[in-house]
Amino acid sequence: MPEMLKKSALLASIACASVASASPVEYKCCPETLPMQTHLAYSGDSGMTVSWNTYSKLHFPSVRYGNHPDALCHEAVSDVSVTYPTSTTFNNHVKITGLKPDTLYYYQPQCGNSSQIYTMKTARSVGNHIPFSIAVGGDLGLMGPDGLTTSTGPNGGNAPLAPGDNNTIQSLQSMKSEWEFFWHPGDIAYADYWLKEEAQGFLPNSTLADGQALYESILNQFYDEMTTLTVDRPYMVGPGNHDSNCDNGGTTDKGVSYNISICPIGQTNFTGFRNHYRMPSDVSGGVGNFWYSFDYGMTHFIQLNTETDLGDGFIGPDQPGQPQGMDSGPFGSYPNEQLDWLKCDLEKVDRKKTPWVIAAVHRPWYVSAKNSSSTVCTICKDAFEPLLVEHEVDLVFQAHTHYYERNQPLNNYVIDPAGLENPKAPWYITTGAAGHYDGLDSLVYPLKPYAVYAEDTAYGWSKLSFHNCTHMTHEFVSSSNNTILDSATLFKDRKCWIEESESCHH
Ligand SMILES: *[C@@H]1O[C@H](CO)[C@@H](O)[C@H](O)[C@H]1NC(C)=O
Ligand SMILES: *[C@@H]1O[C@H](CO)[C@@H](O)[C@H](O)[C@H]1NC(C)=O
Ligand SMILES: *[C@@H]1O[C@H](CO)[C@@H](O)[C@H](O)[C@H]1NC(C)=O
Ligand SMILES: *[C@@H]1O[C@H](CO)[C@@H](O)[C@H](O)[C@H]1NC(C)=O
Ligand SMILES: *[C@@H]1O[C@H](CO)[C@@H](O)[C@H](O)[C@H]1NC(C)=O
Ligand SMILES: *[C@@H]1O[C@H](CO)[C@@H](O)[C@H](O)[C@H]1NC(C)=O
Ligand SMILES: *[C@@H]1O[C@H](CO)[C@@H](O)[C@H](O)[C@H]1NC(C)=O
Ligand SMILES: *[C@@H]1O[C@H](CO)[C@@H](O)[C@H](O)[C@H]1NC(C)=O
Ligand SMILES: [Fe+2]
Repeated sequence: MPEMLKKSALLASIACASVASASPVEYKCCPETLPMQTHLAYSGDSGMTVSWNTYSKLHFPSVRYGNHPDALCHEAVSDVSVTYPTSTTFNNHVKITGLKPDTLYYYQPQCGNSSQIYTMKTARSVGNHIPFSIAVGGDLGLMGPDGLTTSTGPNGGNAPLAPGDNNTIQSLQSMKSEWEFFWHPGDIAYADYWLKEEAQGFLPNSTLADGQALYESILNQFYDEMTTLTVDRPYMVGPGNHDSNCDNGGTTDKGVSYNISICPIGQTNFTGFRNHYRMPSDVSGGVGNFWYSFDYGMTHFIQLNTETDLGDGFIGPDQPGQPQGMDSGPFGSYPNEQLDWLKCDLEKVDRKKTPWVIAAVHRPWYVSAKNSSSTVCTICKDAFEPLLVEHEVDLVFQAHTHYYERNQPLNNYVIDPAGLENPKAPWYITTGAAGHYDGLDSLVYPLKPYAVYAEDTAYGWSKLSFHNCTHMTHEFVSSSNNTILDSATLFKDRKCWIEESESCHH
């Protein structure tokens, strides 16, 4: 029998004696309520959503927080502790509001022990023009013995890690002081690879019957590995094709073709993805973790959904508004909701305050790949590009193809003659090389005329640095050894309103 512990509020009440505390919630802690897989997400510049998993349901998940580790004087409480069939855990989500922007806080999820007091830093207010950097990487899966490691299965898999190479999670960890948050535009964990790994002899003892448990095991192991990053840096995610169903879009093993009919309830329709994360769509008018936006200082960030909900004018090969028979969604309440939202979101941006507008999609449309509908998403281009061009979005991150490619700014396949010196058209960068069991994809040569730099032999991630309202630098960092393999700076010729108003203040 686990020893039941009563919450010890003694220390906190001494340190917080003079501070009015939010109504404390009574709870009992036991091994099943201990926090794990803790992760953060921005909620405006005065809020933060703290999420963590537990083996049992928490009736009122709570987080204590404050400005000092010895004085976690405030408590935020929710009633969100959700699970789904096949999951081994509950996903707890608590949104903290009323925080100060750009401020470091200490927090502790319910039942955390003395070593589980973490820091979180709120987003900078809109219009704050102090330089900052972020990390971006698509297609990041499980690392280690059941994922990307120094070997692959005998019947397939490619690009194992070289002995001694750091993987992307280790690289991000070792450079953590250089980025504010990690943005992951889809393909998270690759739990749907359980069958492929088995088919390739990598997990030789697994059978179809084990699949359900393996899927959840891969998710849990990935969430555990990411905790080192996500416990004190916001983790902003978007949907990718590998987050939808358990069948990896159809997998053939020993001559048998498996499709979505093998997926149990709980492993279809983005169920794990919807349960595990809480992106700030409520404060940005978006939908779930599928499309939303947020501001950080001088930049407006937009996550889009290329997997479903492309609108009623964009009929996919298999299902309306879907690029590849995802058998998922729709998540909007009507077919054009995502596109209507994007238009409205872009119209609302005040470029004097957030001169930079950066979007991320999972499926690319400008990439040196074979033009197949499952790789190059022409209906995504048709849906999104006109709005991104009209509103002069500065940069579009793409993923899905497992390599790095930096393109010219372009519009409808036409390269902007200005290049990076004040282009009108959006700049496109594909950052899909973060790594997972099945390694890297191969670029298709000759590269597209708009490609400037491409790399398909190194795992890596993108570091994006905002210097001021006119200059932004993108770097591709090799995960193996943290070297910068590519660097380019975009210049936009525009008036820097904030700097002027600040210098005119006196
Ligand atoms: C706190 O809890 C974590 C996770 O349950 C555990 O790994 C760690 O050893 C604990 N630390 C202390 C000081 O009890
Ligand atoms: C690998 O990552 C670890 C931290 O995870 C770091 O201490 C080490 O310096 C990194 N090695 C290289 C070669 O970058
Ligand atoms: C698979 O099962 C066999 C028999 O139980 C065992 O000897 C072998 O070590 C297992 N292989 C792996 C990779 O777990
Ligand atoms: C999926 O697989 C099942 C079982 O093999 C089969 O009956 C069904 O026709 C397949 N569905 C599709 C859409 O291919
Ligand atoms: C997926 O989930 C959404 C939200 O619950 C629901 O509206 C939609 O019908 C589901 N789609 C499928 C294919 O099950
Ligand atoms: C790529 O293929 C799609 C159909 O899947 C087609 O509509 C599009 O024109 C093709 N694009 C190019 C550049 O060939
Ligand atoms: C760092 O990694 C890159 C990519 O794997 C490689 O090309 C380069 O030689 C490495 N540099 C050093 C100093 O090891
Ligand atoms: C903006 O940043 C760039 C790159 O650091 C620098 O060269 C430029 O002088 C800066 N502009 C202003 C107005 O400070
Ligand atoms: Fe993908």
